[in-house]
Parts: sequence; C-alpha cells; structure tokens
Amino acid sequence: MEILVLGGSGFLSGAVVEAAVGRGHRVATVTRTGTPAVPGVTVLHADRDDAGALGAVLAGRPVPDAVVDCCGFTVAGARAAAAALADVPRYVYVSSISAYAGWPPGPVPDESAPTFGPDADTAEYGPMKAESERVLTAAFGERVLHARAGLIVGPGDRTRRLTTWLHRFATDDVVVVPEAADLPIAVVDVRDLASWLVTLAEETWSGPVNATGPEGMTTFGGLLEACHDAVVRTEGRAGALRPVPDDVLLAAGVEPWRDLPFWLPDDVARTAWQVGTARARELGLPTRPIDETVTATWAWQREAGLDHPEPPSALARVADVPR
Ligand SMILES: NC(=O)c1ccc[n+]([C@@H]2O[C@H](COP(=O)([O-])OP(=O)(O)OC[C@H]3O[C@@H](n4cnc5c(N)ncnc54)[C@H](OP(=O)(O)O)[C@@H]3O)[C@@H](O)[C@H]2O)c1
Repeated sequence: MEILVLGGSGFLSGAVVEAAVGRGHRVATVTRTGTPAVPGVTVLHADRDDAGALGAVLAGRPVPDAVVDCCGFTVAGARAAAAALADVPRYVYVSSISAYAGWPPGPVPDESAPTFGPDADTAEYGPMKAESERVLTAAFGERVLHARAGLIVGPGDRTRRLTTWLHRFATDDVVVVPEAADLPIAVVDVRDLASWLVTLAEETWSGPVNATGPEGMTTFGGLLEACHDAVVRTEGRAGALRPVPDDVLLAAGVEPWRDLPFWLPDDVARTAWQVGTARARELGLPTRPIDETVTATWAWQREAGLDHPEPPSALARVADVPR
C-alpha cells in the first residue's frame, strides 16, 4: 500500500513510519523540516496547517491508499488535510482522550462519552482535537477513524515523563515517590500504538476508538518498580524508593504531575486512568508488558543522553523529613 504519514520524524510519527516500512508499504511523509530515521521513504516538506502549502506539495502525486495523521495540533491542520486529501480511501487520525469533555477527571466508559462541543475554545488541546475530529468526519465520513490516544510512552519520548523516573533512580540515592503505589495506571507503548495504526490504515474500520492500555494493566507502584529494576540491571544499583503521603507532598509544595510524573491529585487519580478500551482490544491494539516498555525506554535514553533538570527543591525537603 501507499501510505502517507503526516509527520514522520517525531516520537509517534517516527514509529509509524518504521512500522509501515517494516511491513513493506510504500511510505511518504510530510514534515516542515524533519527527516524520518528509516531509509526508503519519500520525504515531502510543507506546513500541514497551511492548506495551500499542503495542497502544493501533494499536487501531481497519486492519491495514497491511506493517510495516518500523526501531527494534528490545530483545527486548521484538519481543514487543510480535508481539502488536500479529499479522495483518500482511508484516513486514520491520531486524536486524544483529551477530546472528552469530562476527562480529566473521567472516567471514560467507552467512545460514546461526550467530547467537547463546537463552542469550546479550540485554542485548548482537548477542544481542538474534538473539533478536528468533526472536521475530518464531515470530510471523510465512514473513511475516517479517530484513534483517541491515551498517554504514549516508550523509546523516543522526549516529554520527560517516564524518563524522569528512570533518571532519578539512576542519579539519586533516595527517590521520593507517592505513597499511592496501588493506583492503577494505563499507558500505551509507542511501538504497539504505531504498528496498530498501520493495521488500521490497512483495514476499513471507522469512528472513534480509545487507544490506550487496558484498565489495571499496571499500577503506579508497578511502573516505579520497573524503572528501579531497569536501572539496577544496567548500573548495578538504583536509588531507594521513599514513599511519601499525598498530604505531606502537597504541603511541601510538590506539584502533581510536573514534579512527580504520572502523580495526579487524589480527586482525579482514581478515575483519570479508567478509560474503556474494549473497542481497541476488539480491533487488535496490543499491550506489551510494562517492564518491556520501561527497559527499552531506559536503553534509548542512555544512548540518546537525554538530559533532565535537577529535581525541584520541594522534593529534597520531603526526602529529608525523618520518619
Ligand atoms: N504524546 C502523547 O502522550 C500523546 C497522547 C495523546 C495523543 N497524542 C497525539 O499523538 C500524535 C503524535 O504526537 P507526538 O508528540 O508523538 O508527535 P510526533 O510524532 O513527535 O510529531 C511531530 C512530527 O510531526 C511533524 N510536524 C509537526 N507539526 C507539523 C506541521 N505543522 N506540518 C508538518 N509537519 C509537522 C514534525 O516534524 P517537523 O517539526 O519537521 O514539522 C514531526 O515529524 C499527536 O496528534 C498528538 O496530539 C499524543
């Protein structure tokens, strides 16, 4: 098949290109300046948010069999794609669970949960994704599938979420962790998501589908243990976990999520990870064990030399509290 990837040199989009090339598809990419890491790809440069520029770079090319849209960051980008790619038989749009008006805090039982409406501010990420879905559905109807991705993790992730934990276990003697070790967490490995997006491009599904790991696939504690163990395997040692109760963390000024990635305030923590993924399982979204994701991320981040800031001083303060 001829697959056009919008994006192609980034985290998810790079993994999609790798998966599509690996399955023998002919792949073209559209980026502003980036180049895919794998050879054998037709590299086109345009700002996909600019309808004229996208139309110009695609003019004269055969209509692809499918598009995988991995860089939908504006509604203008959805409109541009709808105009320039009107005749494509399959369009897979990478949306987000942020499109749901009630998330966070959630839960999101299934894809029928309401998304942000047309009056919401599309300068915000969630409303932008919801409106982009509407634009693409109006253009492509049954030919479009919206993969509402949850938290994407794995090698190549430069957001410094998972990698922050690995970095702290590698560099600190004591690593402050929230006490809520039993909190269920669900994430999706970038390689699982990417290969599945290619499968969706090959097939004829449509409509929205929540694209993340199954509820209860791991816990916060399980994720942290996996980070600790991955570091021990390469370094022979790792920082010791220092569980601290939520109220102590908050009183010390520790910011949920920003200072302790994946840590959510108690009022959203129990429901935010509850996203129904029955449809994704039916459509074959795989979920590899979290240990595998963490180990591969650690290997990548060591190789890439990914830098991380010092932990915030509020964390040092709670680490020193005698107990
Ligand atoms: N990361 C998550 O946890 C998460 C969660 C839910 C949903 N999502 C969604 O998943 C998708 C992929 O996210 P990601 O962060 O992994 O992206 P990514 O693949 O790193 O996307 C960036 C790629 O898109 C290209 N690009 C960006 N803006 C462009 C533009 N205006 N015109 C042309 N090319 C452009 C970039 O190249 P150039 O810079 O050279 O243009 C790069 O190749 C997005 O739709 C995002 O909203 C992500």
